Amino acid sequence: MRIVLVGPPGAGKGTQAAYLAENLSIPHISTGDLFRANISQGTALGKQAKAYIHAGNLVPDEVTIAMAQDRMAQPDAVNGFLLDGFPRNVSQAQALDQALTADDVRLDAVLDLEVPEEEVVKRIAGRRICRNNSAHVFHITYSPSKQEGVCDACGGELYQRGDDSEETVRTRLEVYHTQTEPIIDYYKAQGLVVTISALGKVTEVTERAMEALKRDPASQG
Ligand code: AP5
Ligand code: MG
Repeated sequence: MRIVLVGPPGAGKGTQAAYLAENLSIPHISTGDLFRANISQGTALGKQAKAYIHAGNLVPDEVTIAMAQDRMAQPDAVNGFLLDGFPRNVSQAQALDQALTADDVRLDAVLDLEVPEEEVVKRIAGRRICRNNSAHVFHITYSPSKQEGVCDACGGELYQRGDDSEETVRTRLEVYHTQTEPIIDYYKAQGLVVTISALGKVTEVTERAMEALKRDPASQG
């Protein structure tokens, strides 16, 4: 399957992607995680992206699209992928469509995670991530690690993302509404959007998502 996950910052895209990708046996491709890996490795790409991410703005399309396409061209993504955080504006969505058409494949669904704004602010404020593996995501209240600051899965150090400050989160939410939300209408016109509530326990949201992905998006308006 080829799936795009869309939703505001803090909606739980990364959290759900880890479970969905495993259930569906497809790789989880997060452009945010790819940028953060490049930043921590000090690559030229990381240096280019750093200031944009720190400010909560989108990294320019030419950098982002090339990076995403490069990742999608890896052998593990030949039969499908779960995109998290890409595309993030209409021009990225158009570039993705062009690349898929060139490969004679298409998206199966765009899973839209709906969460009220006050909830995303709480989720982001308490988020902690493992330095060893960005798929290991915790929350100081909703899903705390057994030992404070230590990852349950691998013992890695938990940290708070630099762009999770209150001010940057406000910018990220605004960027989401102005630049990313329009892709939902873009994909609705293609009959691909499946919307679910991302409220409730992580496992409940995963079940809801798996059920929704079994339905034909075109029948959901
Ligand atoms: P990115 O890393 O994609 O960040 P984001 O979209 O802001 O989303 P987040 O990762 O903050 O949230 P999430 O939905 O993954 O939530 P999570 O699962 O962690 O992008 C970062 C930056 O990179 C961008 O601002 C931009 O600068 C750049 N960038 C990336 N892609 C780009 C692109 N395509 N073009 C241009 N620039 C790009 O969950 C959040 C918290 O909630 C966690 O603590 C979790 O434990 C908790 N939680 C999750 N689910 C639940 C639940 N059901 N109940 C209670 N708590 C929950
Ligand atoms: Mg994420």
